[in-house]
Amino acid sequence: MCGIVGYVGSKNAMPVLLEGLSRLEYRGYDSAGLALQRKEKIEVFKKAGRLDALRTLLPKRNAATTGIGHTRWATHGAPTDLNAHPHTDSSGCVSIAHNGIIENAGELREYLTTRGHSFASDTDSEVLAALIAEEYGNAGSLLAAVKASLRRVAGTYGLLAMHRDEPANIITARNGSPVVVGVGDNEMLVASDVAALVPFTRQVLYLEDGEIASLSAKHHEIHSLEASRPGVSQRTPSVVDFDVTLASKGHHDHFTLKEISEQPEALERVLRGRIDTRFKTAHFGGLNLEPKELLSFKRIKILGCGSAFIAGSIGAAMIERTTRLPADAESAAEFRYRNPIIEHDTLYMAVSQSGETFDTLTAVQEIQRKGGTVLGVVNVVGSSIARQCGAGIYLHAGPEVAVVSTKTFACTLCAFALFALYMGRMRDMSPAEGEAIINALTQLPEQMRAQIASPDPLRRLAQKYAHYQRAYFVGRCEGFGLAREGALKLKEISYIHAEAYPASELKHGPLALIDEQTPTFVIIPQDDLLTKNLSTIAEIKTRQGPVVAVSQADMSDKPDVDDCIAVPKGHPLTDPILLLPPLQFLAYYAALERECDVDQPRNLAKSVTVE
Ligand code: F6R
Repeated sequence: MCGIVGYVGSKNAMPVLLEGLSRLEYRGYDSAGLALQRKEKIEVFKKAGRLDALRTLLPKRNAATTGIGHTRWATHGAPTDLNAHPHTDSSGCVSIAHNGIIENAGELREYLTTRGHSFASDTDSEVLAALIAEEYGNAGSLLAAVKASLRRVAGTYGLLAMHRDEPANIITARNGSPVVVGVGDNEMLVASDVAALVPFTRQVLYLEDGEIASLSAKHHEIHSLEASRPGVSQRTPSVVDFDVTLASKGHHDHFTLKEISEQPEALERVLRGRIDTRFKTAHFGGLNLEPKELLSFKRIKILGCGSAFIAGSIGAAMIERTTRLPADAESAAEFRYRNPIIEHDTLYMAVSQSGETFDTLTAVQEIQRKGGTVLGVVNVVGSSIARQCGAGIYLHAGPEVAVVSTKTFACTLCAFALFALYMGRMRDMSPAEGEAIINALTQLPEQMRAQIASPDPLRRLAQKYAHYQRAYFVGRCEGFGLAREGALKLKEISYIHAEAYPASELKHGPLALIDEQTPTFVIIPQDDLLTKNLSTIAEIKTRQGPVVAVSQADMSDKPDVDDCIAVPKGHPLTDPILLLPPLQFLAYYAALERECDVDQPRNLAKSVTVE
């Protein structure tokens, strides 16, 4: 949600900030802006729309060597030029880029108005710029003014601030919204995401919640915002491993298509080094839990949001099926708000691609605060959730740039299949069963490679169904999880209203809406529920509903099936992964057919770092 980037050094700041913002655009893209500082002058350029709209405003050259930038996903105030960041106080002294929400903005705005400040935008963030300017009068330095201001603020922030009188200095602070500092050669960068830093430096340090840093070209200083912990620290940067080629589109038209296509290699990376052929099990380097501790857990609870929650629900089904250990999944957002009971014999697992989803991070903190054990299942190394958990499974899917998750969903399922194998073999799974799972997992990348090699039939099918206004997706058990993911993908990028239902529930209400204008995609693994799924198809057909079977079973002789997508068969732990690509391709090609912006769908952001 919103990307922030800052630069202080000896280079021209403008191209560095633009490059950084282009790598953050997936976090938000309804407006963008830059504040560039040279000597005692700050110039602000901002514009509603994509980064390209901002580029049209910018001078060809600008000599500023300090600057901050922002790409926005509107929460408070419509996406307009005035509401775009950076925001400046009414005297033009302070400029800020802010990611997060200031909850007491209304109250502060009233107070600041009585102090003579005026406001040009509808945003909560502009209030922060005015507050810093107000405090600067008493504090005498930008660092002290930002500290004093943040002590008066309720809410979340990843903040960058500059002051006209301190041209070689940027202040940054974090509370609930990520901030990463990049340490370069005679330059310092700062951003909400390492993706913006890696073209310039691999040396990074992560700010923790409650920390504020002062950055100049050669120097960084980190302070605590707590008055009782006034100490200053210099932190040693760590080296970030980030494959830049994985974050470019290559020869593909869209990141979405590229990321669907690179799933076989991503799966290989999840599996690499984690299969133990000797003991027919899996191993993980980062769980930080001894087998004895793992065996003491009586239940597993998986938390996540959106697709991560759905992947967690399929993961829970895989674990329960394989280990006979009760497992379920819940939306992290719902969980954190219901004052959850934390059981010490439950192992909690938090799933997040970005590792920055605020609701998931807060759920992790709630579990830890109550003494529970939580492992992260995270893609982005060093992200907030990964660091907060301190232990877990990295997906190694590579950077996912398209807003909708595709390869990270597949990799999460694969990580859960490995975890189910690991836990199963620790309990009562036989070596022969372990070997069968290992064989299935080993074959999985190649099976998927063959499966996604020729997507043309899926393109034609998507074109056929793209002009319906609504669709159902149904399935049973793990198939229902896939139905939820298929429906979410379709609605997110093609804007077709798509609803997922357990196939068994259709007759308890939703059948009322089935007619010839409502296609149903039925997810059919080759399992013992096949005959049940066939009777669901008959129920739909009786109401003239078009039926598309996404099936591992042979549907060629089934007259009730209008179209069939044949999926290769694996093992019950790999079948959900094999059933996934057709659903992703359908959403992708339907979105293309409807001329939607596939990589950056409306109203969505890749990383939701606010409540
Ligand atoms: C759907 C999608 C979102 C995310 C959700 C959680 O395609 O991408 O539903 O899955 O916002 O994000 P992470 O996994 O980063 O916590």
